Amino acid sequence: MTKCIYSILNKAISTYNLDKSEILHLLKIDENTKIFEAADKLRKEHVGNKIHLRALIEFSNYCKQNCLYCGLRRGNAKITRYRLQPQEIINLAKKAAEYNYKTIVLQSGEDSYYTTNRMSKIIFEIKKFNVAVTLSIGEKTFEEYRAYREAGADRYLLRIETTDKVLYDKLNPGMSLKNRMRCLEYIKMLGYEVGSGIMVGLPGQTIESIAKDIIYLKSIPVDMAGIGPFIYHPDTPIEKIEGNYFELALKVMAILRLLMPDINIPATTAMETLNPNGRLIALQCGANVVMPNATETAYKKHYEIYPGKICIASSPKHCRFCIENKIRSINRNIAESEGHHKSNS
Ligand code: 5AD
Ligand code: SF4
Ligand code: FES
Repeated sequence: MTKCIYSILNKAISTYNLDKSEILHLLKIDENTKIFEAADKLRKEHVGNKIHLRALIEFSNYCKQNCLYCGLRRGNAKITRYRLQPQEIINLAKKAAEYNYKTIVLQSGEDSYYTTNRMSKIIFEIKKFNVAVTLSIGEKTFEEYRAYREAGADRYLLRIETTDKVLYDKLNPGMSLKNRMRCLEYIKMLGYEVGSGIMVGLPGQTIESIAKDIIYLKSIPVDMAGIGPFIYHPDTPIEKIEGNYFELALKVMAILRLLMPDINIPATTAMETLNPNGRLIALQCGANVVMPNATETAYKKHYEIYPGKICIASSPKHCRFCIENKIRSINRNIAESEGHHKSNS
């Protein structure tokens, strides 16, 4: 058994390639520490010790979609909805740039209030602050993606969530896996840096399907991969899960580092929601990015994708200093560059 892990890890470290059965084996075994150490080593060799910070602005929690797992789903009548005006978003981005963030991530539910024109203007204005702009605003048409790219957006995040078609259809009513994959192709074609990822621990998800997800992310290939544990939200129709998928999510993340050693991998907020040291642990198991919240304190508690989100009571300024101190505590430091894929260290 142990020999088997070593031969798989050796193969990963020297070829950055594993077949499905090898990935499955890693997902199943208990000796996670070996996998985490290998991922940390590759992280250090390929993207260095510097950590890239991305300021996350959650500018609207309206969503026309109805994903079963998500608190922002249109069917959730209990949530207090908000949307920021374009100038408010621009002001928040300016503040984040002043706090020395080099990337602004604009995230929202799928909210049609922000027409192509409105969104393009916001992007164009934010680009004046000399930052990279990442969008995380869901499924759009090719023309919309093109308009945002022309307005200056550099990167796009669209998690595939799961590549298991049956599970995808069940969890995402009115949406299709095929269209989501097509969106990712458009994003790639338009020259964005592509970010995708999955949730780990969805009810009905199998280890087998997670192995396929990993292979899919490598096949794109993604420039960024965000892996988060699923967290049950009581105001959604999805069934409650037992236990906690922090460790498995961490392992999926570490395996992605083994297979794609130079991509950007965030230590996700959902990881820290399940473990008070989740982000620092992730940064020592393959991650090299953190996305602190830069949404105004008054709004961020309403962006409740899942309960128990961290940093709810903290100001953007507080989070900026808090994360820097945490990062220093593990002897790592903050990068000064924009942190594009392949221009990392
Ligand atoms: N638990 C954890 N992550 C979730 N997301 C949506 N709902 C949940 C949940 N209940 C993730 C999805 C989405 C991202 C913005 O949040 O992966 O892409
Ligand atoms: Fe909307 Fe995204 Fe939540 Fe689905 S996961 S309901 S698209 S915010
Ligand atoms: Fe927000 Fe620490 S990063 S309180």
